[in-house]
Amino acid sequence: MPVSTFNEPEKYVYQNGFNSYHESEAIEGALPLAANSPQQPPYGLYAEKLSGTAFTAPRHENQQSWLYRILPASAHSPFEAREHATFNTNPENRPGQAIHQIPNQLRWDPFDIDESVDWVHGLHLIAGAGDPTMKTGIGMYIYAAGRSMDPHQAFYSADGDFLIVPQHGVLDIQTELGRLLVRPNEICVIPRGIRYRVNLASGPIRGYILELYQGHFQLPELGPIGSNCLANARDFQAPVAYFDEDTDTEWSLLSKFAGHLFEAKQNHTPFDVVAWHGLYYPYKYDLGRFNTIGSISFDHPDPSIFTVLTAQSEHPGTAVADFVIFPPRWLVAEDTFRPPWYHRNTMSEFMGLIHGQYDAKTGGGFQAAGASLHNVMSAHGPDATTHEKASGATLQPMKVGEGSMAFMFESCLMVGVTDWGIKKCAKVQEDYNEESWIPLKPHFKRPEAVAEHRQNGAKDVPGEIGDLKQVPHWT
Ligand SMILES: [Fe+2]
Repeated sequence: MPVSTFNEPEKYVYQNGFNSYHESEAIEGALPLAANSPQQPPYGLYAEKLSGTAFTAPRHENQQSWLYRILPASAHSPFEAREHATFNTNPENRPGQAIHQIPNQLRWDPFDIDESVDWVHGLHLIAGAGDPTMKTGIGMYIYAAGRSMDPHQAFYSADGDFLIVPQHGVLDIQTELGRLLVRPNEICVIPRGIRYRVNLASGPIRGYILELYQGHFQLPELGPIGSNCLANARDFQAPVAYFDEDTDTEWSLLSKFAGHLFEAKQNHTPFDVVAWHGLYYPYKYDLGRFNTIGSISFDHPDPSIFTVLTAQSEHPGTAVADFVIFPPRWLVAEDTFRPPWYHRNTMSEFMGLIHGQYDAKTGGGFQAAGASLHNVMSAHGPDATTHEKASGATLQPMKVGEGSMAFMFESCLMVGVTDWGIKKCAKVQEDYNEESWIPLKPHFKRPEAVAEHRQNGAKDVPGEIGDLKQVPHWT
């Protein structure tokens, strides 16, 4: 079955479809008929519009939802700045500053779980580019927490859309638009501004977040692939309306605004949306449903064939953020070095591992819950051990990545690393280059050496001199 097997059973229902116009009502008749804002909405509800794009954005980009709720979102006290000491979503509290732009290849050991903190205080900005105040760029986070959010607390980010990639533990997320259960090997997107709280369904949580300060995620174009494959639209799941009725309890509303944390109080639950309709909503997706494609002849295509979601810059085909996965798949290409090639990329590549072992890095340094960053034009590729193995391997059809799921946040932007990412997390592997690429050995032999080798009666040995299949460039 092309779906993941989860330890934690599903407990909610959803509506299916990516970028589909959805509507949902928790009480029959709560959605007004035809009109968005009737003089008196059904059952005494307030009508409220949530705009995820400018009113006048082109129709194919336009994302808005209408919410029908017990009290409007505006009914709260003024926001006040909250503590900075334990809140790590901005680089030393000034976006654009204390970000280290360095060309080194970086790799991190698995990040620790701090069981004393909740979702909000377990967010750590590790790298990023751009500025949420200009609605440009991205932020990359490690999250790790051991406590559910306070039962009367809600959070939202005004800075961008959160693409959440759980690595450990299950997120039980209550949003204004309904509830989602998000498990490792699933991802979830919570768009800018939507209020939610995170419960820990089965103990501590850890994972990765890509925050998109500009635009929204879309499915990639398929080009000659055609109308199906990769992530299919029908497999994305949006919540159904679900509401609580609570107008006499004090609630805390936390806002991430330009990377800072603010708090307001209100005497009613923010989760009081009885019905909604529109195109702006949270959703989740099971990575096990990804329809992976690849070469059935020789070479392998660019890893863009593994793109789940993309957010394009103003240049079509150039992404501010691509979310790319490396699922289990068959390799059948003939006469091909099957791991990724060595390369330098004008895009930056941040990688993480949800579980298993990534097939391009078998040396043990790239571990689940760890990460790597290969920035703009920083050279990288298989480590020496992987290269040796792959160069001499018998090229039978083989399945790679079984039980594994690596992913990449790829961006056209140069990504800077925060103080937390460089120092405070204390996970940077100082010996990354020493272990990976410095041991690479030269195998180059001039043609005369090959001729002499044969004249001496030596036989061609796979992977050694004279093995024409291994040295195509000088044959
Ligand atoms: Fe790469």
